[in-house]
Amino acid sequence: VSARVVRSVAEVRAAVAEERRRGATIGLVPTMGALHAGHGRLMDVARRETDFVVVSVFVNPIQFDRQDDYERYPQDISNDVEFCAARNVDLLFHPAVEDMYPAPQRAFVEVEGLTEHLCGAFRPGHFRGVATVVLKLLNIVRPDRAYFGEKDAQQLAVIERMTRDLNVPVEIVPVATVREADGMALSSRNRRLSASERQAARTLSRVLFATRERIGAGCVDAAQLKREAQAGFDGEPGLRVEYFEIVDPTEMRPVERISAAVRVAAAVWAGSTRLIDNVLCAPPAAAR
Ligand code: PAF
Repeated sequence: VSARVVRSVAEVRAAVAEERRRGATIGLVPTMGALHAGHGRLMDVARRETDFVVVSVFVNPIQFDRQDDYERYPQDISNDVEFCAARNVDLLFHPAVEDMYPAPQRAFVEVEGLTEHLCGAFRPGHFRGVATVVLKLLNIVRPDRAYFGEKDAQQLAVIERMTRDLNVPVEIVPVATVREADGMALSSRNRRLSASERQAARTLSRVLFATRERIGAGCVDAAQLKREAQAGFDGEPGLRVEYFEIVDPTEMRPVERISAAVRVAAAVWAGSTRLIDNVLCAPPAAAR
């Protein structure tokens, strides 16, 4: 079996329209390729919940704040085609940059507030590029449901808010992060890590899990938790911390006192590779 691969907007629209005529529900899994088991889980959930599963593979130039990161982003389309076939994906949409951006893009989606902290503070224009390409993909495919990983929690919050605020008729479905045995979240960027960087990278999920335990045990002071996390990272010279934040899970703004569920999120550098991860944490009822 192989997934059908189409490159043009017209082809994907025609294929989806045909399925809709048959009464099928449509699921979309937007990706930038270099597919791994994390994407696999998105596809599995889409496969369970919808009749016709479309996966898009498109490394979106307008969401990269650094040209070298765009150029170095891993691409492996022949592997991606096989991966999609093995997961029973119906259609793989793999447009060229000219198919998605045939003319200079003049219209962009800006989601305010939610993009000020975490990655938004360090990657200027990133979420504008993400929100814009995701809205384009939603308008091209017009899925009933679209699937996004919780590993990119701020991206997920931005997309949920965009679709709500702009009345986009789609259900956004969050899917849990897939982790390696040692806790490391799967990411296409992990491919770029050397053996020693991969070893150092374990500290990222370890510090997040330790913070989750402390919150679960009743620590409500974000500044204290940040100090403890910093001490955890200090023991790992192979990582450079970009941010470690405790935020409200919908507004993505830092909180000082933890009185409800929070996202604890961090970005670190292992050599020249930037890694992000986060965990959702709930305080015990007594601390609320
Ligand atoms: O998460 C990703 O892979 C990308 O940001 C997305 C959602 C496919 C938009 O390019």
